[in-house]
Amino acid sequence: MTMSARRQAPAVARNRGPILDVLRDALPVSGRVLEVASGTGEHAVHFAAAFPDLIWQPSDPDPDARASIAAWREEAGLNNLLPPVALDASSPQWPVSDTEAVVCINMIHISPWEATEGLMAGAARVLDSGRPLILYGPFRREGLPLEPSNAAFDADLRQRDPRWGLRTVESVRVCAFDQGLAFDKLVEMPANNLMLVFRKA
Ligand SMILES: C[S@@+](CC[C@H](N)C(=O)[O-])C[C@H]1O[C@@H](n2cnc3c(N)ncnc32)[C@H](O)[C@@H]1O
Repeated sequence: MTMSARRQAPAVARNRGPILDVLRDALPVSGRVLEVASGTGEHAVHFAAAFPDLIWQPSDPDPDARASIAAWREEAGLNNLLPPVALDASSPQWPVSDTEAVVCINMIHISPWEATEGLMAGAARVLDSGRPLILYGPFRREGLPLEPSNAAFDADLRQRDPRWGLRTVESVRVCAFDQGLAFDKLVEMPANNLMLVFRKA
């Protein structure tokens, strides 16, 4: 029996449709998209299939995640989906030097703050002026209490690693601004998630 490396994240089936709707509006019509923290690779397959004129570059620092992405990619047989690369957002060196867009789904709350700082610095390095960095995930809004589901999730994350936890939209905006990424828009998403779009100034 052959064991497949393909992993599945149950949330992907729920969030990929709503995320796709925002991507249709925010992504360029052609060129390369760098996905940071691709995880299982299910989003990469879904979005590469939905955007045949884009070249989708998945990445993850975790070798098991890259094996899963590679297995999903092999099964999908999409010629616009590239093999996954090892990319740690917090590293000053990324294996991709230029791209038309950067997408990062569900990483900021589940990694140390240095990963967010690195994501902003890296996106600013690889994007040309006007090109987008697109984020999805749960966030805090300054001055507002967390919804009960996000409060429980945040407590669980902090217990698993005190460096993790939901970030405020405002702190992420300041971090982006400091690297030369201008805030473009915020989109409310199902299940108390948000999408944030920044553009290289
Ligand atoms: C909750 S998973 C999300 C995966 C996928 N984007 C999704 O929504 O299903 C978080 C991912 O972030 C990746 N990650 C953690 N720290 C990272 C870092 N410093 N740079 C890039 N990816 C990181 C993990 O390896 C993991 O695949």
